[in-house]
Amino acid sequence: MEHKRNQDANLINEKYIESLVVEQRIIDSVKPSLKTNYFGSEFDMPILTPAFSHIGNINGREKTGLYEYSVAARNLNMLNFVGMMENEGFKDIMDAGAKTVRIVKPYADNGKVLDQFAYAKEIGAFGIGIDIDHIFANGGYDVVIGEEMAPQSSDMIKNYIDTYNLPFVVKGVLSVSDAVKCKEIGASAIIVSHHHGRMPSAIPPMMILPEIKKALEGSDVKIFLDCQIATGMDVFKALALGADGVAPGRAMMDDLNAEGTTGVEKFIRGMADELMFAMGNTGFDKVENINDSVIHRLNG
Ligand SMILES: Cc1cc2nc3c(=O)[nH]c(=O)nc-3n(C[C@H](O)[C@H](O)[C@H](O)COP(=O)(O)O)c2cc1C
Repeated sequence: MEHKRNQDANLINEKYIESLVVEQRIIDSVKPSLKTNYFGSEFDMPILTPAFSHIGNINGREKTGLYEYSVAARNLNMLNFVGMMENEGFKDIMDAGAKTVRIVKPYADNGKVLDQFAYAKEIGAFGIGIDIDHIFANGGYDVVIGEEMAPQSSDMIKNYIDTYNLPFVVKGVLSVSDAVKCKEIGASAIIVSHHHGRMPSAIPPMMILPEIKKALEGSDVKIFLDCQIATGMDVFKALALGADGVAPGRAMMDDLNAEGTTGVEKFIRGMADELMFAMGNTGFDKVENINDSVIHRLNG
């Protein structure tokens, strides 16, 4: 039987992002800088690539879409993310030369998780992490491309963090409870995300973000965010509400499909230009100064 109720977290999220509106503060405003620092390295913008996987060779081009956007990340000096893949595929990504965080799947075969972290470290990954929001399916654990997933305890994640001595990113945090656990076990960053709407009626990431920001105040944990980010103004809203970095997802797919690296570079540059416009119009000259005092909510 079909659900009669709207439980689509993507639609709920889009409406929420659209309901956030921005006041203008232009007098005394100057051209802003997008420079950002993560884990001791400087990046040219607070826009990140999404942790994608399984994008093969597109339109007859020789390299995979993952490699193509990783080259764009290197050229634009952005922090790069990739998701589920075997070690061989990750080696290709590293050849693109971007500072890359490898988000490993929560495989039931924990040896495979450890092996993928160890390999990432061995070949010079910038960081590692795990997506904790792709474990359950209706009725049990999910099986992704033939691989069963398994729950991740605080102790398991702490063990990953303590073993590899690399920036560690927990992807798929959507509550203060999980965010605080990540802080307590020593994660370097979290990605506030509902993984393109896996859970029906999931709270919009930007709605829970201010609470998470408050709960992590005074810690070094970086807060990243994704889900339905499509414009520089979307990035601005997330930064204002407490994010340190923001990733578009499927919104960049058409440009990636059409023109590979060039398409992604155009898409991201456009987004960065829109972000600068938003910062200029609101009087914020630096990314770290952006705050929520300019954000209002329609009907809210
Ligand atoms: C083709 C594709 C593959 C993905 N693979 C992964 C993955 O392996 N690991 C992961 O953590 N997230 C994965 N994601 C989720 C994205 O990292 C991101 O959370 C999501 O796409 C954000 O939502 P949006 O596409 O609506 O912006 C994937 C998304 C897509 C579209």
